[in-house]
Amino acid sequence: MRSCPPRISPQQLGLLSSTLYKGAKLSTNQPPSTSKTVTQHGKYDFIVVSNRLPVDRHKDSNGKDTWRRSPGGLVTALHPVMAKADGAWIGWAGSPDEHVRPFDNNGMRLIPVDLSEEEVQNYYEGFSNATLWPLYHDVIAPPEFHRHWWDTYRLVNQRFADAAAKAADDGATVWVQDYQLQLVPSMLREQRPDLKIGFFNHIPFPPPEIYAQLPWRQSIINGLLGADLIGFQRPNDAANFLRSARRFLGASVKAHQVHVRDTTGGFSRISRAEAFPISIDVDQIQTLARRSDVIKRAAQIRKDLGDPKTIVLGVDRLDYTKGITHRLKAYGELLEEGTLKVEETSLIQVASPSRERVESYRLLREDVEGTVGRINGTFDTISNTAIRYLHHSYPVEEMVALYLAADVMLVTALRDGMNLVAKEYVAARVDNTGALVLSEFTGAADQLRQAFLINPHDIDGLKNAIVEAVNLPVAQARRRMRAMRRQIVDYDVERWSRSFLDALKAKAVRDDG
Ligand code: F6P
Repeated sequence: MRSCPPRISPQQLGLLSSTLYKGAKLSTNQPPSTSKTVTQHGKYDFIVVSNRLPVDRHKDSNGKDTWRRSPGGLVTALHPVMAKADGAWIGWAGSPDEHVRPFDNNGMRLIPVDLSEEEVQNYYEGFSNATLWPLYHDVIAPPEFHRHWWDTYRLVNQRFADAAAKAADDGATVWVQDYQLQLVPSMLREQRPDLKIGFFNHIPFPPPEIYAQLPWRQSIINGLLGADLIGFQRPNDAANFLRSARRFLGASVKAHQVHVRDTTGGFSRISRAEAFPISIDVDQIQTLARRSDVIKRAAQIRKDLGDPKTIVLGVDRLDYTKGITHRLKAYGELLEEGTLKVEETSLIQVASPSRERVESYRLLREDVEGTVGRINGTFDTISNTAIRYLHHSYPVEEMVALYLAADVMLVTALRDGMNLVAKEYVAARVDNTGALVLSEFTGAADQLRQAFLINPHDIDGLKNAIVEAVNLPVAQARRRMRAMRRQIVDYDVERWSRSFLDALKAKAVRDDG
């Protein structure tokens, strides 16, 4: 059994797979099942486990299936690790009732975990996105608790854990991602105590007063405590988790450490919980922001909108946590009062399709589209549209063109683990112009202190911030943007992943010593 850490270089990590970007051509297409040089015995030193594999399936010009690396996201971060370390990625390939064999894509070994249609309904749409998602996001929508969803969540988590146990080499590092897989760390440790196991929660962790509602609260905490290191976005999320471990398990918690007991009640090991705020692939966004075709596209967007004085932008997955309706309310009132005029200001709202079979998402779409329709019906002229609403996902090049075109960016989430859109906007503003209106309920607000920080529930406060941002003198905008950019450039996604993996390695060394 080896105890050495994985071979991971500073270039090896990037950011979370985002459903905002679809079809971006970031990598070479690969057929579903090409072979590659893998460790002879098919075991891997470094394994990432996430609900989805970091690839999207497309048809090539001959109608044949090909896989394209998902743009943005964790995959950008981890792709080089996969290529350099002997790495593999375990996840669902995205279609129910389909068996996909392990395959290689662009230097990564991808190991699919199959899910049936019923499992997608109960584990993904049900327990992950209609129980945990709303519960962990301040119960903005009421979470539903169903025992059969929980049963499937356990079953599917066990399948992911089994796949990781099978693929991991002796003493390998396994990094489990996000709320869909919270039981995997303990299920994996049970089978493979030799592994170094990390877990990162990309969404908030609720305070114990809310978490208490979950009928399976102890099992989930126990599941997470199988990890050596549990990463959260904000210090407050880590603190919430530690308080829950103390309250619901009676665990002994000191500073960031939880002393985990074995089944006999004796002390067995220590698990750590800490904040590691995720970031973005700054280089990728900055490079695109300087590319002449992207700059031209930004100018074209402005022209196509009728060359307004100010372009305001919102970019979100169509999710009730994003505060899109609050933003529209504020914007509609500003038009109503005449503070903003459609001849001078245009709002582009990109709302990328998400979780469309989950009821609360269907209702949100009706609400948002009804509101946009009402505002446009009231304020549009023959030549000007109040809100250009786009229910699409775009390639990253188009997103950066939108960021460049936007004088003001609106991020009004009611609760958000981080919000990478805010960071991408800042990264794209290479000339230090532009203004960011940012909800204080996002993880990003901890780092982007020079944004116009708002409480999205305070519609008057939000309106004032939008007006201030629209009228911000250039010198002040530059001062704020420069400070925010320094933050982002200094702490990009590569640094995020490095700091997590370094901390995991340091803990393993301490435990061994
Ligand atoms: O942050 C949570 C997350 O699961 C991200 O990983 C992902 O980009 C987004 O939500 C949407 O995820 P999905 O479409 O897989 O539900």
